[in-house]
Amino acid sequence: MSIDDRIAADQPKTFQFTAENEKEIKRIIAKYPKGRQASAVMPLLDLAQRQHDNWIPMAAIEAIANRLEMAEIRVLEVATFYTMFNLKPVGKYFLQACTTTPCWLRGSDEMMRCIKDRYHIASGQTSACGRFSLLEVECLGACVNAPILQVNDDFYEDLDYETTGALLDSLEADDPLPVGSVTGRSGSEASGGGTTLAAVKSGKSGKSASKKRGSAHA
Ligand code: FES
Repeated sequence: MSIDDRIAADQPKTFQFTAENEKEIKRIIAKYPKGRQASAVMPLLDLAQRQHDNWIPMAAIEAIANRLEMAEIRVLEVATFYTMFNLKPVGKYFLQACTTTPCWLRGSDEMMRCIKDRYHIASGQTSACGRFSLLEVECLGACVNAPILQVNDDFYEDLDYETTGALLDSLEADDPLPVGSVTGRSGSEASGGGTTLAAVKSGKSGKSASKKRGSAHA
C-alpha cells in the first residue's frame, strides 16, 4: 500500500487535544527522562486516534511533533510503520486480520474469505455501509489461538468461516460476541483441555480426557 493510500485526502485544518487529554499527555511525558520526551510519541498518537474517531489527521501529527519537539516526518514515520494507527477514516468496526504463517496454517484464508464474501472489500477498504474496515496485518502476537481477528481493541480467536460469520452478525447487531476464543477454550490452554501437572494429577487434562475417550472406543 502506498503512502498516498494510507493518508486521507480530506484533512481537517486544525487539531487540538482535549483538556482531559492534555492532562494525560503531561502524565505520559513525565514518565521519560528530561530531553527524551520523543519516547512518548506512540502513546500520544494513540490518544490522538482515540480522540479523533479512530483516525489521526495530519494536523494531529503536527501537534504531536510540536509538543515533543520532533520533526513532523519522524512522527509520521512512526504512525505509518504501525498498522494500528489509522491515517484515514475507518468504519465503526476496524477489522485487523492476521494472515501470517501460524494464522494462515490455521485457516486465516477462510476468515478472510468470509469477510470478503460479506462486504466485498479488500485489505485497506471500507464496506459500502461504512461500518466495517478491513486491514490485513502481520502477527498480532496471539498465534497460539490462531487465526486471529482484531476488532478495534479486542481479539477474536480460533475463527473459521462459520464463526467469523457469527462474529460479523453480532457486530452488525452492535452486540459483539464475548472476546477471546470462539471455541470457548480458556486463555491459550490446549484445545483439548488443560495440560498442567496439576490438571494431570486431578485427571482433568486434555491428554487424560482423550485417553479416556480413546479407551471408551477400544
Ligand atoms: S501469526 Fe497470527 S497472531 Fe501470530
